[in-house]
Amino acid sequence: MKYDFDSIISRKDEFSAKYRMAEKRVKDINLIPLSIADMEFETAPEIKEAILKRANHGIYGYTYLQKNWFESIINWTKKRYNWNIKKEYITFSPGVVSAINIAIQTFTDMRDRIIIQPPVYPPFFSSITNNKRQVVKNPLKVDSTGRFQIDFDDLEQKLNHRVKAILISNPHNPTGNVWSREELQKIGEFAIKYDLIILSDEIHADIIFGDKKHTPIASISEEIADRTITFISPSKTFNLAGLTTAVTIITNPELKRDFDFTLEQLHLKSGNIFGNIALDAAYSNGEDWLEELLIYLKGNIDFTIDFFKKELPKVKTYSPDGTFMLWLDFSDYNHPSINKLLLEKEGVHLMDGAWFGGSSNFQRMNIATPKETLKEALERIRDLFNSYDFS
Ligand SMILES: Cc1ncc(COP(=O)(O)O)c(C=O)c1O
Repeated sequence: MKYDFDSIISRKDEFSAKYRMAEKRVKDINLIPLSIADMEFETAPEIKEAILKRANHGIYGYTYLQKNWFESIINWTKKRYNWNIKKEYITFSPGVVSAINIAIQTFTDMRDRIIIQPPVYPPFFSSITNNKRQVVKNPLKVDSTGRFQIDFDDLEQKLNHRVKAILISNPHNPTGNVWSREELQKIGEFAIKYDLIILSDEIHADIIFGDKKHTPIASISEEIADRTITFISPSKTFNLAGLTTAVTIITNPELKRDFDFTLEQLHLKSGNIFGNIALDAAYSNGEDWLEELLIYLKGNIDFTIDFFKKELPKVKTYSPDGTFMLWLDFSDYNHPSINKLLLEKEGVHLMDGAWFGGSSNFQRMNIATPKETLKEALERIRDLFNSYDFS
């Protein structure tokens, strides 16, 4: 491999949210946080160099988005998702979650209902309730193979007059599902039939394995695109979350104008210099790094699943189509607080399933970490579960 994903880099002194979150709950323990969705790898050297070059300039005044910034996004969406977009569709956003909030404020009214598909990324709930809109749950259902599926019958039953939007996660966090073109088309058809706005969070679109492909829902048809707001970002892909940079894509000029108006009102239109530079470098020069990252992540996923199968077969695993998360089912242990147990006894911090509007029997494990760290975390889990009295 040309790039290094094996080095263990300490993050203890850089106010890493992953560490701070666990440190609030436990003291004096050697932590392995496999929780919040960022990675324990340095970003691509091509991105680091671009940031260092700009940092060396020394003046960090107000900035405009450059032509390159738009072009890099247009080229990336074409190359990676086979989606042809134009400059006029693109808007800078300070983050995907803030863009989702802006879209909710712009396109729905107080007390309107918005559909989400739990278990799902927790800010989906809070983005709706914080804006005084109502959450309508269309829970995913598990099929006989252990795969979480969209329940379309339930979805249609819930589409009544106050439902104004559906907020989807594709690829889906935390299950790792990459929704197929057919599934997305069905969502799109419901949206047309029941006059919904589609808010499509595609932040995990670049982390996909094997022969699965990402389909932007807006690329399926003009009619679907006309009512869709798409959110993408290089932040998961290239480990840039702290640079708060994202992109919103809206093909419908009226919706785009309204979204931009809210962004303008909040004075959030031009972003930060380093985020803008990093996005351009990532989408222009980061592809080789990404291809190697995908191989490394898939290796970690296979290693983890294999480990559980051999060492702790009561933990049920499902191989994700995408994302660097595993959604692990601990129900066979029948323990009320797996998350607390792992954190307090072994310092291994996972994300509790209840946080995603699901069951605490499920825990989300972030495997984007050097193999040595991952191995140690898994051994700690195994040793605890083999010695703990679950009766
Ligand atoms: C589905 C999903 N959307 C959005 C985000 C966060 O996006 P941002 O940091 O750009 O607000 C995450 C981070 O884990 C995520 O998983």
